[in-house]
Amino acid sequence: MERFSVTTPIYYVNDVPHIGHLYSTLIADVLARYWRQKLGNDQVWFSTGTDENSQKTVEAAQKKGLDPQRYTDQLAGIWQQTFERLGISFNDFIRTTEFRHKEAVQALLVDMDDSGDIYQGHYEGWYCVGHEAFMKESELVDGKCPEHNRNAEWLKEENYFFKLSKYEKDLLHWFEKNPDWVVPPSRYNEVKQFVKQGLEDISITRQSQRWGIPLPKDTSHVIYVWIDALINYLTTVGYPDQRYRQWWPSVHVIGKDITKFHCIIWPAMLMSVGIEPPKQVLVNGFFTVNGQKISKSLGNAIEPLALSKKYGSDAVRYFLLREIPFGSDGDFSEDKLKQRYVSDLANGLGNLVSRVTNMLEQFAHGQFVRSTTNSPQQLSRHQSAIEQYRFDEALGIMWEHLDAANQLIDVKAPWNMAKEGKRDELNSLLNDLANRVLNIAGLLEPFMPVTAKRIQKAFVEPVKKAEPLFPR
Ligand code: MSP
Repeated sequence: MERFSVTTPIYYVNDVPHIGHLYSTLIADVLARYWRQKLGNDQVWFSTGTDENSQKTVEAAQKKGLDPQRYTDQLAGIWQQTFERLGISFNDFIRTTEFRHKEAVQALLVDMDDSGDIYQGHYEGWYCVGHEAFMKESELVDGKCPEHNRNAEWLKEENYFFKLSKYEKDLLHWFEKNPDWVVPPSRYNEVKQFVKQGLEDISITRQSQRWGIPLPKDTSHVIYVWIDALINYLTTVGYPDQRYRQWWPSVHVIGKDITKFHCIIWPAMLMSVGIEPPKQVLVNGFFTVNGQKISKSLGNAIEPLALSKKYGSDAVRYFLLREIPFGSDGDFSEDKLKQRYVSDLANGLGNLVSRVTNMLEQFAHGQFVRSTTNSPQQLSRHQSAIEQYRFDEALGIMWEHLDAANQLIDVKAPWNMAKEGKRDELNSLLNDLANRVLNIAGLLEPFMPVTAKRIQKAFVEPVKKAEPLFPR
């Protein structure tokens, strides 16, 4: 029986979620919901969660005067609640401070060590806590990381290293064999190019830090937060217990800033222990707000919860999925959201539902005969758009059908049929319209789950004029 397992990046808890963070999670949610419809609920696993063993966590906790664990408990709660309110249907919310995760991380590192891939060495270099990564001197501006606008620190440590360079050939071979492994192709080429230039071994522990998961063979070191974080994808499916195999390999949805970790380091770690790399890595672009980079200092970090309170969670979902083609960069603005809210949602979908339910109540005692109106071509266009991650196109197709139904009402003027006593013609038109709306609602569920449910409820007989789905 076919199964589908999908993950999101796990999020740093040094702050609350902004609209950019919602995006990967939303894409994963659409896929999880779509595959549940197709394969059945039990055949799908969808995980998201929080990345808590970062130095950023410790700093943020200090600022709030809390100990790191109390602080992460609070923040993880906020992230989880935000996702729930936006209709994110995760099966598991994983936190890297959980015991099950520590077990999984330590088990995997013991296996990597058994493969002879971990050795002790010396590292020094510029480290940016914002990135949680070493940086090249050429990447700094006046000693500062330009992205995080903070001074890089010179770290000089005895560390443990992972023999990443050993996997250069295996990775290239894997890329050649799996040309669709990274989507979109531009990201695939970028990753391949990077490996072709040659890989260096990477330091995977920190001696100077206490907050994190200890390295089993030398507990005076904690494991580098990125190595720990990547392993969450195995923890969530039950690793080190063998039951992880029922879900692995998973599909990873990530942002374009973290491809090297997911498409190079992670598969190499898995190759080291003989576990298959992820099934596919889907990479989304970045978006700006009103043309500007999302940043705390600019104060433009829009919170998804606030937006969803104002417009409803489905309107936020619709906007992000329709406006930004998957894989591209995009721009968010509340004005554009408002425009789509009025034109596509209130005047398009909302209006159609209220017209059809109103006419059923007035002219047909709220009764109609159910049937399938989705043609096989329509369905296959819809499915291939989703399965090839063209979510904007899938929504575009649905809206073509909604618009066509709205036009049909204008052209056929059912109210005249009622006046002229053309009962049969009127009934068959109303049946057709009701079924078109209901069939579209079914296809819409992965994208707009609340709306889909409300439409299905509005068509329970006897049908009465529905409350506006998208009040102005
Ligand atoms: N904790 C790491 C991920 C570990 S996964 C094993 C991390 N966390 S993060 O909170 O900084 O970012 C999480 C995700 O949010 C990343 O995929 C990142 O690309 C995405 N985004 C952050 N800002 C974004 C935008 N402005 N636009 C789109 N995605 C953005 O990285």
